[in-house]
Amino acid sequence: MKIVLFEVPKEEQQVFSQLFDNLEVSFLEDKLDENNTEKAKDADVICVFINSKINKKVIDALPNLKFIATRSTGFNHIDCEYAEIKGIKISYVPAYGSHTVAEFTFGLILNLSRNIEKANNYIRKSSNFNYFPEMEGFDLNGKILGVIGTGKIGKNVLKIAKSFSMNVIAYDLYPDLVFAKENNFEYKSLEDVVRQSDIITLHVPYNKENHHLINKGNISLMKKGVYLINTARGELVDTDALVWGLKEGIIAGAGLDVLEGERELKDEIEILSSTPRLMRIEEYKTLLEDHVLMDMPNVTITPHIAFYTREAVAEILKTTILNIKGFLSNSMINLVK
Ligand code: NAI
Repeated sequence: MKIVLFEVPKEEQQVFSQLFDNLEVSFLEDKLDENNTEKAKDADVICVFINSKINKKVIDALPNLKFIATRSTGFNHIDCEYAEIKGIKISYVPAYGSHTVAEFTFGLILNLSRNIEKANNYIRKSSNFNYFPEMEGFDLNGKILGVIGTGKIGKNVLKIAKSFSMNVIAYDLYPDLVFAKENNFEYKSLEDVVRQSDIITLHVPYNKENHHLINKGNISLMKKGVYLINTARGELVDTDALVWGLKEGIIAGAGLDVLEGERELKDEIEILSSTPRLMRIEEYKTLLEDHVLMDMPNVTITPHIAFYTREAVAEILKTTILNIKGFLSNSMINLVK
């Protein structure tokens, strides 16, 4: 049984290897994609994180593959339908970071509402302790937070919002009416949430059906001066429309831990210097627009770190090891269905 683990930082490799004593296990810091499948060519099991892209070509290049363990909650980086056709099982980590990501979401909200990053940058550059009108913020107390997706993370965001005395409205394909009653908020249609919120925050998984859930059509319905927070997945937001909304002043600011095209952003030098072109023209456009966002003073971008605390990393390791051991002992858990 050969197991190959990708995207494992050196310090985590030791922890993992102690737990797979009698097995043939190899570790790579690289991500797995169609350009380096030879690194896993005999693998029965692969273990990946979000920067790997497990598409048809990768699956076809790994003939022995029986099990994929992703160390993430989201699994949109894996072609799950094709894996199922090929009889390959996939496990994920359902609940390592629901407090972790919710806390980070509020970090982004407070950073925007109180201009913390802006003020700190100013102090660093000028060593001047005066304050200016651009640093004036706004209270969260009494503002309307629109939570899109009230699963594990969305629910924790909602509870934090309540502790700030915010008014919460929410949209979910499957509303939890008991939770709504207990926490005194209302579910509304996506359109109403988008129209009424002062701050909108996304907490739904990404899939083909909700590609560009936030788009020019619904950005044009938003209140002028709304803030958008995305700690879920970049592809939920049409980047072109977001840049438009910010330039038009409809969206006053955005806090983005995830970006459409973030995988390509990490490899952009390699991509730009390669011939033939590796990406479609729209993907180049998104990459450019990501840079436009990075330059905007009212946009805070972080490199997909909402999950990244020592507690969450420990939980990811623990659950992933259980997932792989479950496969090895024929009692699989946390399977993607
Ligand atoms: P969850 O599965 O507990 O909740 C998702 C909720 O979204 C469910 O209530 C579901 O009914 C709802 N939903 C699904 N599709 C929808 C749609 N099209 N429209 C409206 N509602 C929809 O997931 P959880 O744990 O709350 O995580 C949410 C997402 O957060 C993950 O799928 C992942 O993409 C992202 N995430 C990001 C992290 C980061 O580091 N930035 C870390 C962990 C998760």
